[in-house]
Amino acid sequence: MTSITDLTLDLAAVRRDFPILEREVHGKPLIYLDNAATSQTPSAVIDCLSDYYRRYNANIHRGLHTLADEATAAYEGVRAKVQAHLNAFEPREIVFTRGTTEAINLVANSWGRANLKPGDEVVISLMEHHSNIVPWQLLERELGIVIRVIPVDDRGVLDLESYREMLGERTRLVCVNHVSNALGTVNPVAEIAKAAHAHGALILVDGAQAVPHQAIDVQALDADFYAFSGHKVYGPLGAGALYAKASILESMPPWQGGGEMISRVSFDRGTEFAAIPHRFEAGTPAVAEVVAMGAALDWVNALGIERLAAWEQWLLDHATQRLERIDGLRIFGTAPEKAGVISFVVDGAHAQDIGLLIDQLGVAIRTGHHCAQPVLARFGIEATCRASLAVYNTPEEVDAFVEALQRVLGMLR
Ligand code: ALA
Repeated sequence: MTSITDLTLDLAAVRRDFPILEREVHGKPLIYLDNAATSQTPSAVIDCLSDYYRRYNANIHRGLHTLADEATAAYEGVRAKVQAHLNAFEPREIVFTRGTTEAINLVANSWGRANLKPGDEVVISLMEHHSNIVPWQLLERELGIVIRVIPVDDRGVLDLESYREMLGERTRLVCVNHVSNALGTVNPVAEIAKAAHAHGALILVDGAQAVPHQAIDVQALDADFYAFSGHKVYGPLGAGALYAKASILESMPPWQGGGEMISRVSFDRGTEFAAIPHRFEAGTPAVAEVVAMGAALDWVNALGIERLAAWEQWLLDHATQRLERIDGLRIFGTAPEKAGVISFVVDGAHAQDIGLLIDQLGVAIRTGHHCAQPVLARFGIEATCRASLAVYNTPEEVDAFVEALQRVLGMLR
């Protein structure tokens, strides 16, 4: 285990960047452990949003005036930041979306409708979030495609042998998350991609839970599509991105029509669409949120993603060891490669009751199915408590959470 003293993270300075961490909940200091749902926002990002509206709010790409130029430059500048952050080859491979869900729906509705025929197979891991299941189920009903599901073992690890066996000449796409939001498993995306490509299939990676916790290299992973949400990586709600290889994106038709996604519109001569990535960004985008997402990536990079990852791993080990000592507590998701998510149930106490009571002690965790009902059903459960970590969490918070949990269990059992 990495020792705390090896880590050069100035935790007090990190925490000072997040004003919300100073607040109290029910008269107790807030202990925020629902970071997989949304992370908190540093002052640099809040200030960036405010600065945008105070100084250069304008609609982008349309105006020949100074404010429009400044807003456009800031927005397009973030495309290059996201490209660098994901190590994409060029900025035009980045499409801004509202988040991961919209990015996956873009792929389903554009690439999926253009390329999938009845009987074609889409392989989906059992541990996907509903946002990487339901868009494909909609196409299953409409187009007659076939969904095949990669099983998960008792540790919450994908069964890659079964996966390889289900790949065949009808496989067109493999959908997998990089990190499971319900179990914390880090999936071997490069290996999964290699097998998919060997069968001529593409791979779509839901990176929502990975981008906040580790360095991403879409070229090394050889991902064809990679989606993430800004609000889980210290950015504001309402902005995210889809990466897609340029050659694939260029072959894809638009999925939403409107302003900004055309090069010419005519009733007589037909409409021509804009080049990528603007072809996929119809209408006025969330300019301020995209610009602030760029500020969030700057914040992460200034801290150093490796340092952040090392700290979270240390905290994950610490929290896991403390929780494992609680009588009757079972952790779901014990893969050797995990990110900072701990899903658990406790004998004799309902997850929802734990969540409600522990909130009274100032601790925010999530309870429920985490929009991942199929994988919970695999373990014979409908709900878990989930504590999820971010870089600003401290060992003292983890200890206080465990003590609060023990108090709550004392009331419930
Ligand atoms: N997908 C988010 C979560 O896992 C909402 O909590």
